[in-house]
Amino acid sequence: MIERVKGTRDILPDEINRWQFLEDQARDVFSLYGFREIRTPIFESTELFQRGIGAGTDIVAKEMYTFPDRKGRSLTLRPENTAPVARAYIEHQMHRRSEIERLYYIGPMFRYERPQKGRMRQFSQIGVEVFGSDHPVIDAETLQMLVLYLDRIGIRPVSVTLNSVGCEACRPRYREILRGYLQPHRDRMCGDCRRRIEVNPLRCFDCKVAADRELLARADTIQDHLCDACRDHFAAVKAHLERLGVPFDLDPRLVRGLDYYCRTTFEVSLAGLGAQNALLGGGRYDGLVKSLGGPPVPAFGFAVGEDRLVLSLPENADIPESSPDVYMISLGEKALQHAPAMAARLRSGRRRVVLDPMPGKSLRSQMRKANDLGARFVLILGEQEIASGRYTLKRMSDGAQVEIDETGMAAQLEEMIRA
Ligand code: HAM
Repeated sequence: MIERVKGTRDILPDEINRWQFLEDQARDVFSLYGFREIRTPIFESTELFQRGIGAGTDIVAKEMYTFPDRKGRSLTLRPENTAPVARAYIEHQMHRRSEIERLYYIGPMFRYERPQKGRMRQFSQIGVEVFGSDHPVIDAETLQMLVLYLDRIGIRPVSVTLNSVGCEACRPRYREILRGYLQPHRDRMCGDCRRRIEVNPLRCFDCKVAADRELLARADTIQDHLCDACRDHFAAVKAHLERLGVPFDLDPRLVRGLDYYCRTTFEVSLAGLGAQNALLGGGRYDGLVKSLGGPPVPAFGFAVGEDRLVLSLPENADIPESSPDVYMISLGEKALQHAPAMAARLRSGRRRVVLDPMPGKSLRSQMRKANDLGARFVLILGEQEIASGRYTLKRMSDGAQVEIDETGMAAQLEEMIRA
């Protein structure tokens, strides 16, 4: 038997409601704020990610699914979607259409990581990107939208972990200060940190090794070295968040795993997710569009891990039903001559009706099937019912039943549903 590839999953019909619920609510909430959907390809030129995310990041260095096409061009399954959306923004000259462009996406991403609960090699993100403004109101309003979305799907309370990672004016100086602090301890640090000190010492803050963490706890943070413009920007973001009532905690050691960020960065973590506790992450990336060959357009965004969102949904989440309203039970071939037209009539009233032609199966076994499907009602069609033109509509929850006739059927069903 051929099985699915490690780190991938099948989302079966029994669980799909949860996914569709999260996606429907995202579309609904994001549209309230003026976001429109964009769909970009699943694969892109490898160079896009090398330049966009940064060649020294774990994602680019270790986790990409890269392959040559038949002409030898290097392609990569997208490990994230900010760089592709920025690429599309530039390619379609979207800055000409409107000063501020708000986009969202829902779809699969691919990273070659060690699979575990909440960490997949193919996973789905729900993300948004705002292009065209570096105003702190954009940061705050987009975060407010995020918290509203989480609240809508029943994930509350949450607190956004917030930081500013500075800009090209202040971060390089801080990077040197941090490198200078870590350098003397280099030989006692873990292998990853030794590499990070060379490539990007800020990434050391993500280290899980206790001794390294202790050392880093005593290091200056970027907050001690922000330039005036970044400090003012961050203060304004925080003030707007307070006015909007968006809960946040500050973590001056929060660093993100992608190189394009500047100024505001954030994550939301949930305890129940285990080791992979980051539910979402994002921030500002004012330099990315220009670095990919576009105009100097600032931007801000986030992506939520949909797989982790599904794991975090509360038991009592308000997920709409998709089981049938009515399961048609037809006893005998004759009943089956009538059943499809009757089912069609009920469906014209927007009711979900399922008809399985199993003329030889007993009433009991068809009732069992209705029960398995979670049908709310069964409509029973036997020879006698067809002869008399009167049918039994039975409510599964309590066995209550009414007789209905063919002409008023849809209305009678509605009455029964409302009762
Ligand atoms: P990221 O932090 O790399 O950011 O990923 C965002 C979220 O995707 C994570 O918080 C996590 O929930 C989910 N995720 C990442 N890797 C996996 C995995 N292997 N399995 C399951 N879920 C995963 C970005 O991707 C940025 N593009 C976010 C962004 C948008 N920044 C600005 N705009």
